[in-house]
Amino acid sequence: MIEFKNVTKAYNSTLALSNINVSIDRGEFVFFVGPSGAGKSTFIKLLLKEIEPTNGNIIVNNTDITTLKRKEIPYYRRKIGIVFQDFRLIPTLNVYENIAFAMRVVEAPNKDIKKRVQMMMGLVGLSSKYKAMPGEISGGEQQRVALARALVNNPAVLIADEPTGNLDPETALDIMDLLKDINHAGTTILMATHARDIVDRMKKRVIAIEHGVIVRDEQRGGYGYEN
Ligand SMILES: Nc1ncnc2c1ncn2[C@@H]1O[C@H](COP(=O)(O)OP(=O)(O)O)[C@@H](O)[C@H]1O
Ligand SMILES: [Mg+2]
Repeated sequence: MIEFKNVTKAYNSTLALSNINVSIDRGEFVFFVGPSGAGKSTFIKLLLKEIEPTNGNIIVNNTDITTLKRKEIPYYRRKIGIVFQDFRLIPTLNVYENIAFAMRVVEAPNKDIKKRVQMMMGLVGLSSKYKAMPGEISGGEQQRVALARALVNNPAVLIADEPTGNLDPETALDIMDLLKDINHAGTTILMATHARDIVDRMKKRVIAIEHGVIVRDEQRGGYGYEN
């Protein structure tokens, strides 16, 4: 489903990724681990087509995304959901409208928006808080809203860049349970993280990147660093 072929990314003189080859199947749950500056976010940005590789090809669903035309990019990005460490909700919109926003930008009909947003709020356990503003709910709840927003357009892939980084350990595990459910329902999940406990507990595929190179790729792997 996702294939990086000989992908290199240089930022001026910094080689962020060096000749990366990796392939990820539909339905997988993959952790990206490695020290700060290793190239994890660069990998994610390449996949979102926020940046272009210096060399190599990135194939997603049989399409080489390096050849997409500018006008095809928004359509491509719609197939990928993303959540970040800092949630990135719109502070002036309530929970319902934050989730609905992702459908409004793709001009979905109101009837569909209402149905999908209610369904997503149920999935993340926030149906009773639909009128709350982001500032009135906890960090864990904000991350649930961010997850609902990322999934509302039914993407095939969910990318999570340090999604538990701002959460206490217990809340982080709740979010991981949700991600597990979402993965079981068929969504491919790629998660970059420093959370040793979580990686060790989940026993999923682990890809370790160091200095822009994949140094380990194992099924049912552990975090493997001392933090
Ligand atoms: N926009 C940029 N311009 C220059 N160097 C960058 C840029 N973004 C990242 N880098 C460098 O590329 C390397 C990989 O960064 P990054 O992908 O953010 O790592 P990680 O997410 O694993 O911490 C680092 O050396 C970083 O300083
Ligand atoms: Mg990063």
